Amino acid sequence: MPDKRVSEILKGARGEAARAKLSADLEQVRVKYLGRQGLLTQFLRSLPSIPASERPEAGRQANEAKAEIEALLGQRLAELRGAERRRELESQRVDLTVPGRRPPMGTLHPLTLVQDEIIEIFQGLGFAVAEGPEVESDFYNFEALNIPKDHPARDMQDTFYLAEDVLLRTHTSPVQIRTMKAQPPPVRIICPGKVYRRDADITHSPMFHQVEGLAVDMSISMGDLKGTLELFAREMFGPRTTIRFRPSFFPFTEPSAEVDMRCFLCGGEGCRVCKQSGWLEILGSGMVHPQVLSNVGYDPEEVTGWAFGMGVERIAMLKYGIDDIRLFFDNDLRFLTQFA
Ligand code: PHE
Repeated sequence: MPDKRVSEILKGARGEAARAKLSADLEQVRVKYLGRQGLLTQFLRSLPSIPASERPEAGRQANEAKAEIEALLGQRLAELRGAERRRELESQRVDLTVPGRRPPMGTLHPLTLVQDEIIEIFQGLGFAVAEGPEVESDFYNFEALNIPKDHPARDMQDTFYLAEDVLLRTHTSPVQIRTMKAQPPPVRIICPGKVYRRDADITHSPMFHQVEGLAVDMSISMGDLKGTLELFAREMFGPRTTIRFRPSFFPFTEPSAEVDMRCFLCGGEGCRVCKQSGWLEILGSGMVHPQVLSNVGYDPEEVTGWAFGMGVERIAMLKYGIDDIRLFFDNDLRFLTQFA
């Protein structure tokens, strides 16, 4: 016959174990029944006060109940822990099929794009790229290029001097001097790079980019120069581009010519962009001055050459219809990403 007290305890423990929702609740159930002050523990402790005739049976039932509660708690604990683990995994679920977050893609700067395009056109004609320092000596930037001491280009207005005879190059022509001094003719190079002048307004920036070209060989003529630059202009601005050569002066070329292209906006009629002239200046050029050839140790009786120089910003402004040079250097992504 079951002991009433033991079956009460057992009933309570079963019910509470079944109702427990969390593993932590189960621990409370265990403490309540099996802990040091637990109901069943207390009952076992009270056995000596039970009449001797009932004691063995009550003890046996209490021990059985203890074993049952322990087994029950163990089983429920495993169930609840399993459920808790599943809930946790579910909440941390990672969807491996979601596409990754892409970092925003940069674009090349419009000046880089235009400079690369210029370089590509001349590389296609057999020109090699030559580079040189931006901090130059007076000799390479001026003296060797036949620019006399009193030439306006030497004026402090135009040139950034770092020390006497040390300056920021005002053009990439010194690279031509360095190249010719380092190798015998023939030479076919283009010199892209940064140049510096004390000048700033909507069409001038104190730092800008040039690409200069140089060809020196036996019997190189002005005709070669015209053909080369015409091809360049058509590649750069479209096959219907017309150019003209206008007499000009540079200390390092003789004869010298400035090259204009027919205004892309009005087609030569005259408009705001070409200042009613119908033409837009795109570069300077000429036959290398015999004095410059001698300065680098070439024999002007044996070889001739031509050179040209253009501003990358100016070419880019003409190509894309940009009216303010400062846009290139403001680093406004809304502007810069339009050219990719
Ligand atoms: N070096 C000249 C300048 O910066 C450009 C130029 C180069 C002109 C070669 C003629 C020949 O203005």
